Amino acid sequence: MCGIIGYAGHRPAVPVIIEGLRRLEYRGYDSAGVAFVQNKELNIVRAEGKLANLETKLESINVTMATSGIGHTRWATHGVPVERNAHPHCCQDGSLAIIHNGIIENYQQLKAELLEKGYEFRSETDTEVCANLIAECLRSTGSLDTAISMALQRAEGAYAIVVCDSRNPGTLYAARQSSPLVMGIGQGENFLASDIPAFLPYTRDVVFLEDGEMVRIDANSWSVMNVKDLSPVEKQVHHITWDVQAAQKGGYKHFMLKEIFEQPRVISDCLTGRMDWKQRTVTLPELEQAAIPSRLHIVACGTSFHAGLWGKQLLEQWAGVPVSVEIASEFRYRQPIMQQGEAVLVISQSGETADTLAGLRLAKEQGLPVIGLCNVVGSSIAREADTVVYTQAGPEISVASTKAMTSQMTALALLALYWGIRKGVLPDETRRAAVDGLEKLPGQLESELPRMREEAKRLAREYSSARSFFFLGRGLSYPLALEGALKLKEISYIHAEGYAAGEMKHGPIALIDPEFPTFAVAPADDLYPKVKSNLQEVQARSGRIIALVHPGADLAVDSPWVMAEAWGPLSSFLALPALQLFSYEAADYLGKDVDQPRNLAKSVTVE
Ligand code: G6P
Repeated sequence: MCGIIGYAGHRPAVPVIIEGLRRLEYRGYDSAGVAFVQNKELNIVRAEGKLANLETKLESINVTMATSGIGHTRWATHGVPVERNAHPHCCQDGSLAIIHNGIIENYQQLKAELLEKGYEFRSETDTEVCANLIAECLRSTGSLDTAISMALQRAEGAYAIVVCDSRNPGTLYAARQSSPLVMGIGQGENFLASDIPAFLPYTRDVVFLEDGEMVRIDANSWSVMNVKDLSPVEKQVHHITWDVQAAQKGGYKHFMLKEIFEQPRVISDCLTGRMDWKQRTVTLPELEQAAIPSRLHIVACGTSFHAGLWGKQLLEQWAGVPVSVEIASEFRYRQPIMQQGEAVLVISQSGETADTLAGLRLAKEQGLPVIGLCNVVGSSIAREADTVVYTQAGPEISVASTKAMTSQMTALALLALYWGIRKGVLPDETRRAAVDGLEKLPGQLESELPRMREEAKRLAREYSSARSFFFLGRGLSYPLALEGALKLKEISYIHAEGYAAGEMKHGPIALIDPEFPTFAVAPADDLYPKVKSNLQEVQARSGRIIALVHPGADLAVDSPWVMAEAWGPLSSFLALPALQLFSYEAADYLGKDVDQPRNLAKSVTVE
């Protein structure tokens, strides 16, 4: 789960690469490096830690001559995050440099073979093995494209690689298998990268590479071929319309805060093209041709999994479709029973999460139609799914996902309404109330957010000395509680557990004492009286409580947090940002690195 970039063009390459890497830092950031050829010499500069460390190192080197090169930000999968394991790596004789995102699973075996042939290794990485394997193949064939093809046919696992040859530095080769790689087509310059923002200031023309494809670029030309037999592959050039500003902070202190405040717009964007405001109904043009499944298997990871748990309740209630929701890393290694007439819905913001992608492939192998609910256009999941519903949330940069969940919940609510209407099982009254509620929702959230932030700030200060937290909810608020706990632990490092409120008495309640607070999501729904009793049980053990409630709630807790009401299930859209803001303010108050929490990465492209 690294960020890679390759440049061949007419500008000084290193600044272009560094700028690109900065926009890819969200993909992982424990070390970074660049390789470029100057005066016929291959230079590799690498540094442990964030990109700024690499930039400091580069300050003392004149890098203006090279007009091509490669760069990488790393998130360790093999070998500890130190400089010797940072990319680029080169082959033993120093002629080839390579950057790699992914894991070559059989690298130990390949390494053993190369060691026998006399190769020596300077790092513990699978990438250095790949560099030497290509060098070894080059010895026998003499041509780099054939050598890369031969080497990659022996490599098992996932990779996106870019190779730079010091003897021909203006030409770069790249290939992908189960790891993201896109090509940017410029004027007198071409780019390779894990993601589009890396080269967006220079070009909006993009070619999406598929698994098993290899590409050759120089400043003025590019070609794509099949990695196995090097036969040419025709590719379409796509024009991207969103701009790089959308991926910048826009005046907020952190991307996370900016993305939380973008949620009203995210909801309206997700509704765009899907609401018939006149007829007060919902249409999902993407799914018009697809049959309504007899059962839906939702597969996802992390925050997307929580969105799936939330969506299940509406899909069952409004559309009468039975739903199971499963964590992708579990689903993929079971033998799930999938039957004719059923479908799989994979939810993924990035569209690149390895376990979710594997779940998608398992479903396809078993002949089930797969619907992808994705944010990133052209991502692997979006391309491999039979049908894609895009969440249209714009790039999410902060590692902690916020607006993506809101967009996924919006899309899931639309799906439940759409199928319910198509099946004729959704009462007219519910349809009308839901459409009215959705129409009002963006404006309502927009006006509530500033006040919510103030309250979050106050409560975060009061409670940030806690070492542990419970998050409780029932029904639709249970997935929100799971998400609230995930947000708090991932960015503030305060231990937090999300529980179904009714489950507390089966063990967790033993932990409650005055130092172990509880955050309850307790809207005025049918389950409110039940949550209220659960909270009384917590209070009986002297536990302090923050409770998100609706006006008029009769809960005597330490910190009631009164939120605005929306129609029925749509209240979740006002509770979720409160949970996100509480975590954000706690993490910021504690001085944590909000956008890039330790040990985490935005896009988890390894299993
Ligand atoms: C990582 C991110 C999470 C995200 C999860 C699933 O763990 O840090 O924020 O929810 O991956 O990502 P996806 O892109 O598949 O939604």
